[in-house]
Amino acid sequence: MTTLQTPLCERLGIHLPILQAPTGSVAGAALASAVSIAGALGAMGVTWLDETSLLAQIEAVRAETPLPFMVNYALAFPPATLHAALQAGVPVITFSWGDPTPYLPQVRASGAKVGVQITNTQGARRMVEAGADFLICQGLEAGGHVQSTTPLWELLPQIVALAGAIPVVAAGGLATGADMAKAFSLGAQGVLLGTRFVASHESLAHDRYKQSLVSAKAADTALTVCFDGGWEYASHRVIRNSTFQNWEAVGSPPIGFRPGEGDTVGYASSGEPILRYEDTAPRTGMSGAIEEMCLYAGTSCEAIHSVLSAQEIITQLLTEYASYR
Ligand SMILES: Cc1cc2nc3c(=O)[nH]c(=O)nc-3n(C[C@H](O)[C@H](O)[C@H](O)COP(=O)(O)O)c2cc1C
Repeated sequence: MTTLQTPLCERLGIHLPILQAPTGSVAGAALASAVSIAGALGAMGVTWLDETSLLAQIEAVRAETPLPFMVNYALAFPPATLHAALQAGVPVITFSWGDPTPYLPQVRASGAKVGVQITNTQGARRMVEAGADFLICQGLEAGGHVQSTTPLWELLPQIVALAGAIPVVAAGGLATGADMAKAFSLGAQGVLLGTRFVASHESLAHDRYKQSLVSAKAADTALTVCFDGGWEYASHRVIRNSTFQNWEAVGSPPIGFRPGEGDTVGYASSGEPILRYEDTAPRTGMSGAIEEMCLYAGTSCEAIHSVLSAQEIITQLLTEYASYR
């Protein structure tokens, strides 16, 4: 056992206590497998995939590596393919944005480990009682959809204290070895990084989106409800791009009163239009005004200075971490 290993590693069958966040449609099989091959836990956000695409993604990961990986369901939407994922033998399932208790018996029966992203003490207590295998503690610094209203360094010790023997993974705004060291010093057994891995060669994010993450500082992000097309009333952290700034400049009006509402800002590779205020992050193959689309980013963008491979990101984290010990 290297000193970096925690009981979470043994529980999930991974070498390093580093988890890739399931960053929706920009985290595909290439990124998940590259992260797992590097010794961490690769992830795919599969909430919006149909069964055929899900099974193809799982197959694509397995074609690269037999190592564990996770898939995530955001329970603001029905987890329609959960049964298929379990049948296919996915080793780790995580849930967020909803109550996972109705699904826990079938996940357990399949033998998969289950993690739940929690954002407050009440939710954490409930998941400890429900028997989650690990908790992901999300702070308000996180990129993407954010339920947390508390800074990570304030929330994490509270969650660790009530979790007892259940491992807690820290998430939200993390991108460096120093962040890892701080998370471990507060009792976390792992870290989960989303934005950092979006800015990787293997992610499916559009190159201009990746470059925006490299340029942005923490203060260039906002926690907002601006990009709610497709997922209403769900707060998210994004880069304060021109769509956001033009909306903010006129008083952040509600749906129906927003500047440029209904504009087509670009196209998916299928030719389908992407409308302003849609929650779709720009992926490779999309065209149009990429900068005006929904650019999810955690405050972690502050520490992202270049697009790297998954392996390089993990090596950099470990090198930085070593200098903090
Ligand atoms: C582009 C993007 C998409 C995301 N999609 C999901 C998702 O589908 N399900 C989920 O549970 N979390 C999602 N998240 C949130 C992550 O799980 C995690 O809380 C967050 O990335 C941590 O903050 P960080 O981005 O600063 O590392 C997403 C985050 C980003 C940046």
